[in-house]
Amino acid sequence: KTAHEIASALLAWYDKHARALPWRVSPTERSQGVVADPYRVWLSEIMLQQTTVQAVKPYFENFATRWPTVADLAAASTEDVMKAWAGLGYYSRARNLKKCADVVANEHGGRFPQTEDGLRALPGIGPYTAAAIAAIAFNQPAAVVDGNIERVFTRLFEISTPLPSAKAEIREVVARATPAYRPGDFAQALMDLGATICTPKRPACALCPINEQCQARQSGNQEQFPVKLPK
Ligand code: ADE
Repeated sequence: KTAHEIASALLAWYDKHARALPWRVSPTERSQGVVADPYRVWLSEIMLQQTTVQAVKPYFENFATRWPTVADLAAASTEDVMKAWAGLGYYSRARNLKKCADVVANEHGGRFPQTEDGLRALPGIGPYTAAAIAAIAFNQPAAVVDGNIERVFTRLFEISTPLPSAKAEIREVVARATPAYRPGDFAQALMDLGATICTPKRPACALCPINEQCQARQSGNQEQFPVKLPK
């Protein structure tokens, strides 16, 4: 029951408040069940791995305009890709981006694998990115867990095991909460909630669509989560 309540409240909130981001489909498309192009989802997720949404936007627009398909990126030179990446940092991402484009174009007929395991076998794609692409581009009920989502779930269920030990437990609760219906929108709703409402400091609980399900909020301890092991 709780899982269903959380998912339906989050999806209703996302329909109203989703951030308009260049790698997302429009609200009209979303209401018609259109999912984003796997190539654009992959490109955005690689760029967002260690970089903020604001910094990624212009780079994403430039790459997607210049190389609109994975075949176009595979046909580009590594040098041109590295130059276009300049300024984003973590340059191994750009080298793997190009390698991955080559593999998808040459060994997979230009189509990304649709499963987490298939995606994880590609250069530059780890467990987080595989789950995000599977959910967002292929509607697979994959458990997507990033830092924002960790914060939301440790608060929802008052998970007081310190990070990083809590990761397995968090994965479990995220997996249980992830709906078969619109799993990609569910994941992105959690990302938006973590970025705009369930913030590290002074979360805006009054505006939160799942504040009634939130255990930390009930006990007034929302800012105590997540618990982290001292570095
Ligand atoms: N961070 C990582 N992936 C994201 C996405 N799809 N939307 C917003 N922020 C993100």
